[in-house]
Amino acid sequence: MSGVQFILCGAILGILFPYFLHVAVAKSTDPSEVHALSAIKNSLTDPLNNLADWSNGDPCTSNWTGLVCVSMPNDGYLHVQELQLLKLNLSGTLAPELGLLSHLTILGFMWNKISGSIPREIGNITSLKLLLLNGNQLSGSLPEEIGYLSNLDRLQIDENQISGPIPKSFGNLSRVKHLHMNNNSLSGQIPHELSQLPILFHLLVDNNNLSGYLPSEFAELPSLKILQLDHNNFSGSSIPASYGNISTLLKLSLRNCGLQGSIPDLSKIPHLAYLDLSSNQLNGPLPSYKLSIDMTTINLSHNSLSGSIPTNFSGFPKLQRLSLQNNLLNGSVPSSIWQDITFGGNNTLFLDFENNSLTSIPDAFDPPANVTVLLYGNPVCANTKQPDMVRYCQPQGDKQTSGSSTNSNKNCSPCPTDKTYEYNPLSPIPCLCAVPLGVGYRLKSPGISDFRPYIADFETDLTFLLHLFLYQLHIDRYIWEAGPRLNMYLKFYPDNSSLFNISEILRIRSMLAGWEITLSDTFGPYELLNFTLGSYEIPNTSKSGLSKGAVVGILLGAIAGAGTLSTLVTFLIMRRHSRNQVASKRRSLSKFSVKVDGVKYFTFEEMALATNNFSDSTQVGQGGYGKVYKGILEDGTLVAIKRAEEGSLQGSKEFSTEIELLSRLHHRNLVSLAGYCDEQDEQMLVYEFMPNGTLRDHLSVRSDSQYIVMKIIVESY
Ligand SMILES: *[C@@H]1O[C@H](CO)[C@@H](O)[C@H](O)[C@H]1NC(C)=O
Ligand SMILES: *[C@@H]1O[C@H](CO)[C@@H](O)[C@H](O)[C@H]1NC(C)=O
Ligand SMILES: *[C@@H]1O[C@H](CO)[C@@H](O)[C@H](O)[C@H]1NC(C)=O
Ligand SMILES: *[C@@H]1O[C@H](CO)[C@@H](O)[C@H](O)[C@H]1NC(C)=O
Ligand SMILES: *[C@@H]1O[C@H](CO)[C@@H](O)[C@H](O)[C@H]1NC(C)=O
Ligand SMILES: *[C@@H]1O[C@H](CO)[C@@H](O)[C@H](O)[C@H]1NC(C)=O
Ligand SMILES: *[C@@H]1O[C@H](CO)[C@@H](O)[C@H](O)[C@H]1NC(C)=O
Ligand SMILES: *[C@@H]1O[C@H](CO)[C@@H](O)[C@H](O)[C@H]1NC(C)=O
Ligand SMILES: *[C@@H]1O[C@H](CO)[C@@H](O)[C@H](O)[C@H]1NC(C)=O
Ligand SMILES: *[C@@H]1O[C@H](CO)[C@@H](O)[C@H](O)[C@H]1NC(C)=O
Ligand SMILES: *[C@@H]1O[C@H](CO)[C@@H](O)[C@H](O)[C@H]1NC(C)=O
Ligand SMILES: *[C@@H]1O[C@H](CO)[C@@H](O)[C@H](O)[C@H]1NC(C)=O
Repeated sequence: MSGVQFILCGAILGILFPYFLHVAVAKSTDPSEVHALSAIKNSLTDPLNNLADWSNGDPCTSNWTGLVCVSMPNDGYLHVQELQLLKLNLSGTLAPELGLLSHLTILGFMWNKISGSIPREIGNITSLKLLLLNGNQLSGSLPEEIGYLSNLDRLQIDENQISGPIPKSFGNLSRVKHLHMNNNSLSGQIPHELSQLPILFHLLVDNNNLSGYLPSEFAELPSLKILQLDHNNFSGSSIPASYGNISTLLKLSLRNCGLQGSIPDLSKIPHLAYLDLSSNQLNGPLPSYKLSIDMTTINLSHNSLSGSIPTNFSGFPKLQRLSLQNNLLNGSVPSSIWQDITFGGNNTLFLDFENNSLTSIPDAFDPPANVTVLLYGNPVCANTKQPDMVRYCQPQGDKQTSGSSTNSNKNCSPCPTDKTYEYNPLSPIPCLCAVPLGVGYRLKSPGISDFRPYIADFETDLTFLLHLFLYQLHIDRYIWEAGPRLNMYLKFYPDNSSLFNISEILRIRSMLAGWEITLSDTFGPYELLNFTLGSYEIPNTSKSGLSKGAVVGILLGAIAGAGTLSTLVTFLIMRRHSRNQVASKRRSLSKFSVKVDGVKYFTFEEMALATNNFSDSTQVGQGGYGKVYKGILEDGTLVAIKRAEEGSLQGSKEFSTEIELLSRLHHRNLVSLAGYCDEQDEQMLVYEFMPNGTLRDHLSVRSDSQYIVMKIIVESY
């Protein structure tokens, strides 16, 4: 074989493979899972025939809508790893046979009209990480068996009609980070067993019919960031003083819960940003201690709080809203609350003191233009000495901002109307028409109450996490909804071209729908409402083969020309470079060593011997990562040795991961890894020397079929 072929091949193996989890040939789906899928379809009603392809051939190899499959080593079958049917107008019920999909990690039926109860058999799917059933009409009670899902990371059952208690067994969900159960009819006491959850971040159970008391044991939750229990009826109970000990807390929202007593000391929660205790029967004074300087929102309105507004209600540089209306507060209107706020373009402060008993106002009361003060319904409004009183004393509701922006660009000629082309208003290429991805996106429990000053942060955060350029994202519109939740419509544009390629679409969708990204804590958890390209909804579709959810599927078999191939290689080299900048400078290699079955460890001496001390005559290629040599091992085996150059060395851990991945690839038409060398600042991979044949023969594999045989999955990075 020629050197060029080898280099390309070496480049592909060496550069692509660190990102790959599996390479396999098509097999067929596990028969018990085929049976389960058929039962699942039969119990659903599908008026728009969105699951039409669920009657063609084999589920995993015939691209059934919503499936992603995986191949397991030492098992002749493909297994369903993800079943995600987002917003497809499905009704009917969930079949108990779901429990047979024993390799599932993601089970999602969000935003359909599915009714009936959640089958207890789901508790059998121990591999399950995401259970996403929000936005349906599910009823009945929560099966105790859900608590057996020891790998569960996220449970979303919000916006259904589920009733009955929260099972105590949920206290055993030791990997759960997100419990989203708001907007149901859950009742009874919140089990104190939930306080055992070691990594629970978000507990959203607002808008239910829970009763009893608030478990003081929640103070033991070591990771809790958001506790949102609004609109339940814990009639007569008080806020446990121990909640002041939840030092990880960012948001505490207990609106309209029937709570009594006074406000506990929350001054030891260093980063508390959002506090809503409104619409309860709380009494006593306002907190006289200092809350966190991260406060954005304080809502203590509609209670029976008394006394005056302490001077320490100031010094909150990020404060956006302070709502104290409808209490029994007396004394003077405070005049220093805004003193630590820098009012740039979009910062505003909203102070609502309506309907209290405030009697006086400082003589030099002159808040900046960006501060709104509402005093309607206070005796102070009769004050005739302050000339501006009218300005503060108008009755006024609490208005929340919304926003929208258009994409029109008057200097460009109109875009073609087919395929719903639009201008990307931010693209560095002027007048570029492109088809954007539309994403309905909602922040479920934001830590802010005014989005405007945070829009830029949000855009930076989201595009960074999705590996996109800032100009690829445009917030088309946003609106505050009850909760408060922030509903947005986002548009993602392709980078400098008119159309996304399909793998990029699947990548973005999969990252969003698999919750592989976590926004800054300021924005709290998000949910995906819809995902459209032009006017088409994009279902989550598997091609032949396997996936790991994260990811780009690259269909190598489909690659026809060398042009495409080199583009692909370049693309991945660029990726690699950008990673290297962060991750690996030349390091002294650690003692970290791997033992991988079937992969031999070679010493530097053995490598030098095999290649006549890396002589030029044995060199068969050179790539960005280093040189490739043809060598002969002591036992006579012909090998190709890829020797990394200085700049291409990986950390030992990454290198051993690569070796492990390469060692798992055993396919008759792929060069297999014979061994490696990792010492003395040297990293080498030793491959079987490839027999004759072209590169394409080695990659596209089965010439007897047009069928795409290989699917390479890039691990999320
Ligand atoms: C699956 O999808 C791939 C790529 O979209 C396509 O080429 C292939 O023909 C499909 N397979 C079947 C059986 O539909
Ligand atoms: C599908 O469901 C959506 C919302 O649930 C509804 O607005 C739409 O009319 C439905 N489409 C059809 C064709 O039934
Ligand atoms: C599945 O769950 C049901 C009900 O929870 C149980 O009876 C059954 O034994 C489970 N099956 C397996 C294979 O674990
Ligand atoms: C939690 O798990 C333990 C052991 O894993 C078990 O003994 C206990 O009954 C479970 N608790 C609940 C409430 O299911
Ligand atoms: C939750 O329920 C409340 C009260 O019924 C309602 O105002 C709110 O819109 C609901 N939220 C969602 C996201 O459905
Ligand atoms: C809420 O629970 C109470 C009992 O605690 C019950 O009387 C009431 O009907 C429930 N309300 C709803 C809407 O389920
Ligand atoms: C809350 O519960 C108490 C006692 O359980 C009941 O008297 C009261 O009416 C309930 N409040 C609401 C708003 O349902
Ligand atoms: C808060 O934690 C401290 C230290 O662990 C403890 O001494 C104190 O009693 C706790 N406060 C409450 C109200 O539980
Ligand atoms: C504060 O709470 C009241 C009553 O619960 C609500 O009407 C108001 O919208 C809230 N204000 C803010 C800024 O959240
Ligand atoms: C204020 O908001 C506008 C529109 O949302 C934005 O263009 C501008 O950059 C923002 N200004 C600052 C200082 O953040
Ligand atoms: C804040 O005040 C400045 C100066 O009066 C003004 O230019 C700016 O528009 C205000 N910002 C907002 C969001 O009201
Ligand atoms: C997607 O969600 C957004 C935000 O809620 C909404 O504005 C838009 O109309 C939705 N699009 C579709 C096709 O449902």
